[in-house]
Amino acid sequence: MAVGPVLFSADDVARRVGELASAVRRDFDGRPLTILAILHGSVVFLADLLTHLGSAVNVELIEASSYGDGTESSGRVVLNGCARLGLAGRDVLIVDDIVDTGRTLAAVRRAVEAAGPRSIRSCVLLDKPSRRQVDVALDYCGFVVGNVFVVGYGLDHAGRYRDLPYIARLDEPGG
Ligand code: IMP
Ligand code: MG
Repeated sequence: MAVGPVLFSADDVARRVGELASAVRRDFDGRPLTILAILHGSVVFLADLLTHLGSAVNVELIEASSYGDGTESSGRVVLNGCARLGLAGRDVLIVDDIVDTGRTLAAVRRAVEAAGPRSIRSCVLLDKPSRRQVDVALDYCGFVVGNVFVVGYGLDHAGRYRDLPYIARLDEPGG
């Protein structure tokens, strides 16, 4: 696997993250908000969102895994950290890097519902609608991508490429 063409430059991403944060600020209008970020892919997106959101924001983290080292999901989502989520009565914004089959976001949403929040919204940087297997509501979405595997800006392949400041397609070597 090799890093292919850049789909969204660092400038594109920065501009879009600013727009998403503005939409969130406008909708929450100063009301306290709890962001529940899904590890690990969302860390860079989370950090940049936070810098735009101001002080009325709590952060909670949950770990979700379904990918092995390949580019195909195993189909089973394992969540870690649900037990300690302090979400009762809160307005919760679930933040993730990308929605592919939708299984991860659906599983996290169920965990959030079980924690008794006041409201639930979701915010993802990237959406791959062509791969959807489970219907999930997206309230804020940065970019739509086709059926490609992408890396950079926190998104990895087998633990690599999270550090790239842009989002690029991952290509088969020689392909
Ligand atoms: P889903 O459960 O199939 O929607 O997969 C969502 C999770 O898989 C995301 O949180 C990502 O961590 C990972 N994922 C899906 N597509 C990609 C991709 O193109 N690049 C990197 N990670 C991805
Ligand atoms: Mg993820």
